[in-house]
Amino acid sequence: MGKNRSFSAIVLVFVMSFLLVSFNVNAQEREVKPWPVPDEFKNMANPVAKSEASNKAGMVLYTKYCGSCHGKTGLGDGVKARALKDFAGDFSGGYYQNQTDGEHFYKTRFGRGEMPKYEGKLSDEDMWNIVNYMRTFKK
Ligand code: HEC
Repeated sequence: MGKNRSFSAIVLVFVMSFLLVSFNVNAQEREVKPWPVPDEFKNMANPVAKSEASNKAGMVLYTKYCGSCHGKTGLGDGVKARALKDFAGDFSGGYYQNQTDGEHFYKTRFGRGEMPKYEGKLSDEDMWNIVNYMRTFKK
């Protein structure tokens, strides 16, 4: 009995230190690496006017294609987020919201690393609807 107890205690300490280490690693990866966007995209006008209809269309697509990683409210906390190496970003904060619509469109269209590219999977109009919807995540 006594031996079993101390064995369990040792296992517990191991598990806890492992958890601590992985939390730290996660904390470091909360930063987003700079992602330069060519000027022609950065300054591109959004051809889809912001409207309730556009937000609605964007929400349906976002929920289907993006929420699993980016989370329901864009905080980067979707069900798949824990399995990602890179932090998907916080769409509610300044870093994201201060970018132009064109930058959001470019990143959605071409992707990078674990961020899939949606060129050929979604129409440009669909992507602009999603870009419009992601503005509603602003805090
Ligand atoms: C498999 C997980 C995954 C899915 C699905 C996904 N993303 Fe991402 N996304 C990421 C990751 C990871 C990053 C960070 C990539 C990097 O910085 O290299 C990212 C980054 C982004 C960025 C740049 C954020 C910033 O801070 O500049 C935008 C915009 C974006 N995603 C939009 C979308 C949209 C729109 C969809 C759905 C159509 C989508 N993503 C689906 C994982 C995902």
